[in-house]
Amino acid sequence: MQPTYDCEPTLDDFGVLKFCQNGFLSFPGVVPDEINQRALKFMEDWEGAEPSHILHEDWFVENVICHPEVAGAVRCLLGRDFGLPILMSSHKVHCPQPAQEWHRDGGSKWGPPVNYLQVFYYPQDTPAEMGPTELLPGSHHLFSLSTFMGHYGSIRGAQLAESPAGSILITAYNIWHRRGKSTAAAVRNNLKYNYWRRTAPEKTWTSHPDFDPEKIEWRDEDWEVPTFRQQFRDSYDAAEQFMWLSGKHDKFGTIGGQGWPVPGNNLERQYGIPDGIKH
Ligand SMILES: [Fe+2]
Repeated sequence: MQPTYDCEPTLDDFGVLKFCQNGFLSFPGVVPDEINQRALKFMEDWEGAEPSHILHEDWFVENVICHPEVAGAVRCLLGRDFGLPILMSSHKVHCPQPAQEWHRDGGSKWGPPVNYLQVFYYPQDTPAEMGPTELLPGSHHLFSLSTFMGHYGSIRGAQLAESPAGSILITAYNIWHRRGKSTAAAVRNNLKYNYWRRTAPEKTWTSHPDFDPEKIEWRDEDWEVPTFRQQFRDSYDAAEQFMWLSGKHDKFGTIGGQGWPVPGNNLERQYGIPDGIKH
């Protein structure tokens, strides 16, 4: 029987929306240094691809896998009693290295459901010179085969997850990503693992008083314009994923044109708001 876990939710509506928009959430430097050092020592003695036995170490499970803030976010995205990682992947590399090819990991599915998460833990400082993970915001909604996207080089709008020691990065499993180019002469460690959904989607995160799904910017306002997608598609897909996570996927629908979820400035009421989308 795979292990499950439950804890207090740590995201509110806007935190969950951020995940739906960008496909990732970062938690910089949340793991104590003593634990990072211990993890690095553990990895020093290991050269294989899957050090899954680290998941039997209480100090690691307590401080990394079940870190209250991070596990609380996982709980918001995967629901109560979510499945804990059972497989650990080591992405230890000897820098310098060229950038990896853009890809989605094997087993990626495409669509609004969030049934598993891909998570990275950086036990050491990982600035740009150490080749941190590079991510394309919103690309978890953009279908492409890895065999095609691997030919791309730099993509405008991609973000380098430069991370201080002890950072954890939660990502949608199917987000476009790659190991960034590194220039330092050093060993870089990065551990990757998955959490799993075990219950049907429903809203279990904290309500924010200012959040109104009828009037919200569903596209991340920090994104560069234009992005790599057709206009409004980012908003449609973020809204649909949010409704799926809320257990209200059956309520989702768009009229098209400039209707919901495109907010429209200063409108009393937008066209096309589906019935029953409020909590
Ligand atoms: Fe990958």
